[in-house]
This record gives sequence, C-alpha cells and structure tokens, in this order.
Amino acid sequence: MSTATTSLDVSAIRADFPILSQTVHGRPLVYLDSGATSQKPQVVLDAEIDFLTRANSAVHRGAHTLAGEATELFEDARATVSGFLGAQPEQLVWTSGATFALNLVAYSIGNATSGRFALAPGDELVVTESEHHANLIPWQQLAARTGAVLRHIPVRDDGTIDLDAAASVIGERTRVVAFPHVSNVLGIVNPVAELVLLARGVGALTVLDACQSTPQLPFDFDALGVDLAAFSGHKMLGPYGVGGLLGRSDVLEALPPFLTGGSMVTTVTLDDAGFLPAPQKFEAGTQPVSQAIGLAAAARYLDSLGMDAVQAHESALGRRLMAGLREIDGVRLLGDASTGSATGGAASPTGGAGSATGGGSVERVGIASFDVDGVHAHDVGQFLDDRGVAVRVGHHCAKPLHARFGLTASVRASTSVFTTDDDLDVFFDAISGVRSFFGVGA
Ligand SMILES: Cc1ncc(COP(=O)(O)O)c(C=O)c1O
Repeated sequence: MSTATTSLDVSAIRADFPILSQTVHGRPLVYLDSGATSQKPQVVLDAEIDFLTRANSAVHRGAHTLAGEATELFEDARATVSGFLGAQPEQLVWTSGATFALNLVAYSIGNATSGRFALAPGDELVVTESEHHANLIPWQQLAARTGAVLRHIPVRDDGTIDLDAAASVIGERTRVVAFPHVSNVLGIVNPVAELVLLARGVGALTVLDACQSTPQLPFDFDALGVDLAAFSGHKMLGPYGVGGLLGRSDVLEALPPFLTGGSMVTTVTLDDAGFLPAPQKFEAGTQPVSQAIGLAAAARYLDSLGMDAVQAHESALGRRLMAGLREIDGVRLLGDASTGSATGGAASPTGGAGSATGGGSVERVGIASFDVDGVHAHDVGQFLDDRGVAVRVGHHCAKPLHARFGLTASVRASTSVFTTDDDLDVFFDAISGVRSFFGVGA
C-alpha cells in the first residue's frame, strides 16, 4: 500500500497502528478524523502500559525506589517532548490538553493585579475569526472579568488571515494576540512571523494555538518567536489527558499561577505560601504522569519518521484533498477562493504532489472542510461511515468561522502519517455518490 505523495514508508507506518486493521460495517477502516483525535502507534500504548506495570508511583515525592524511577521517567518525558517542540524542559508546563493550557494563560493573566500582565478596562485582546472555541471563549471570559475589549482579525474568502486588517486591529491598546498556527477547519498554516511582528510592535503577548500544527509539521517554539504556545497530546499520536503550554522563560516567570495546591510550593504557613519557579508553579496537584510518558513515546516516533517528511506527506495529502473535492459536483470547500470560481479547479484528484494545486501559494496541512449542497453534514458523515470512512461533522468547535462562510456545519476530512492515496480514493468515490444517494441535484 504505497502512496505517490510521500517519502514516508506508509505501509510500515500502518503496521504500527493496531486500530487500522479493523473493518467498519464490513469495510476496511479509512480513518480521516485525525484532526479530532489521532490514532496511537503501538509504541505509545506500550510506553504507558510499561510505566504502569513496572514503575508506577507518585512523582516529585516519596523516598522509595519506584518514586525515584517514576520521577526520572516523568522528567525525561518533559525533556523529550520539549526538545521535540523546540523548547527547553523548564519551558514546558504539563496540562491535561490544549483547552486547559489556553485557560491557564487567560486565568493567569486575570490573576495579575499589577505589573506586566495586569489588564485595565479598555485594554484589548485580539483573536482571529478562525479560532477553535478553546482559543476564543477563555479570552471572551477574561474580557468580561476585567473590562478588556475583545477584538478579532477577519479571515478572507480564501481562509487566510487578513494581515492588512490585522495591522489595523492590533494597536496601542492590544495586550494579547492569540491565534491558531493551523486552522482546525481549513488546514491553512497561518503567518506566525507576521503576526508576531505586529504584536511585538505594540508590546503585546502572543499566544499560539498549536494543536493542529504539532502533529503535521516541524514545530520549533524558539524559532517561531511566540511567547506562549498550547498543544494537545491526543492530536499528535499521544494519549488523552495530556498536553502542554510552552512559554518563554521570562513570560512564565512573570505570570502568576492559575491553580494552587500541592506540588507547586516552596513554603506554606497557615497564612501564606511561596511558589516554585516555572514550570512547577503551574503544575498544582497530581500530574498526567503515564500520559506524559506515552506522549514522549509519540514524540520519539514522530521524530523517527522525520517531521520534514511528515510535513511533505501531509501537505501533499492536503493539496490532493482540496483538488479531489473541487472536482466533485455540489461540493463547496471552506476557505478556498477557487471553489465556485474559474480558478484552481483543474488539478487532478489522482495526481501526486506536483499535480494538485491546492489553492495557489497558501500553505496547508492535511485538513479540508466542505459542504455538500443539499445534504446535511451529519447525513454525509453517516453515509461515509456506512462505507467505512470516518470523518468529523458539525462545526468543529469553530462556530464563528462557519458563520463567516454562511454555514452552521461542515464535513471535515483530516489525514495523518498513515493516510494513503487509496484512503483518499475511497473517500472521493464515496463523496461522489452522496448527492445521488440522497436524491439531490439529479
Ligand atoms: C485548533 C484546536 N485548538 C484547541 C483544541 C482543544 O484541544 P484539547 O482537546 O487538547 O483540549 C483543538 C481540538 O479540537 C483544536 O483543534
């Protein structure tokens, strides 16, 4: 089972994912829902089970042998995952996932009563129109608590962030600029450097939602230049219940803690407490230990594939997804200026990297969302499931972006390191039959 679009050995990779050998409704599983949650290779399952069966114990406490071993494995995991993401170990705060990490930032800022992060009424928080709710609602809530004003940068018809508008939205009152590295709906890679430049120009903090980029492309926190970045373990071949916040050391040092309690203190009296430096300052309570160890195995696995090769694979599949869907009558892609217009529709859905144009110079990963004219997204999802194809349907936790494109729901296909051209062929073939099955547009 080869794929023309990749230098990855996809057949070998598929053998690492036990779940892929399943059938669904008697058809081989075609899993195109990695944007919602990724499948886990055997090495990740083994790493968690091995820890739990051999070394399970509480970390950072206890004088016994297992406690020491567990602490070492947990901190090794921090070093592995932070290194994989281009950061130092002390720059990685473990969280339960990206939602937690983004709320951590918003609540920590809200806890700042003086200094660099304290907000005053009229200060501005800036997001984009393409946020996942996890990088929108925490800022709405922070604005409501502090009297700050929430503003947004619009996206253009082709799904790209409008940088001209960004330059006027980001201004002297801007204190935070939060944006996604990759849209979880459109698969577009956003212009991080340009947005960081605008934010830095006014002294604003930058917060990157990196959920959809860390599994799909080389991620170098240090080089990106953002102040903070949230990521999710379960989207990058790792376990549920773990993710993290990466932060520049001076920013983590200056931010007040969000949650307080055990494990994050230096001294405690009945009246007061002193806090450990970051990252422990933000890690109150029991941490996701086995999950962090599983995530380190996922990072090692991705690293062994080579993230440049992973990116080439994902962007080729993304271009092919776009090109193939454009060819199907009644399909409208979200964030694709060429859909319904004369441009860009000529690429072959069967071709490899070179033959699918995928929307000009816009950089994409393996995610595409679309509407099938006259058929509700949930019906499309059901129809695909009957044929063994798993996709996401609904608003994908991005209601404002769907409203921007005049929709309440769409169908999203998203790929992973194990996705083949054959998977996409099965998917295209099924989508081609949706409208006639539902008696639409005949
Ligand atoms: C872009 C984006 N941000 C945030 C999240 C939330 O991540 P988590 O499940 O780790 O809380 C998701 C998950 O769907 C996402 O795709």
